[in-house]
Amino acid sequence: MNQHNKVQEYEKVLDLLDHFLKKYQNLGKNAIETSIVSLLKNNVTGLFFVGFYEVIDDNHLEVGPYQSTILATPRIEKGKGQCGQCWAEGKVQIQEDVKVCQNYIACDNETQSEIVIPVIKNGVVQSVLDIDSEHLSRFDEVDSKYLQRIVEYLI
Ligand code: SME
Repeated sequence: MNQHNKVQEYEKVLDLLDHFLKKYQNLGKNAIETSIVSLLKNNVTGLFFVGFYEVIDDNHLEVGPYQSTILATPRIEKGKGQCGQCWAEGKVQIQEDVKVCQNYIACDNETQSEIVIPVIKNGVVQSVLDIDSEHLSRFDEVDSKYLQRIVEYLI
């Protein structure tokens, strides 16, 4: 995908999100996450799955708000798959080709590439934002930069 279009799409999401959260202040986490998922899924091209996984105890993530045509894997152990790895490391994960990824949990047959962004508050991962694409190598540093800015609204 053309980087210029990608930047324009994320800038639009940031504008809409910023406007929305100024209009409706003091929203809870669920409302903000659900709004982020909707804005990304409906304004950014080539996203097959957009969703949050929440830390629910010392060893598990549980699926939160998401949009896709599939049913997401509901629980993921710490360190397992790209979501569990993102939580364990507290770092953005980008997989250009999930088929060659050794630590990947498949929820569908469509996904080719994936990015996972940690939501870190006071040094602790609270949740992760998981995004899958049906295109190979869909995600890069531009996506990482914008998605980290977007999840800052949760912190
Ligand atoms: N692929 C993820 C699992 C979640 S589904 O993609 C929605 C992973 O490897 O952790």
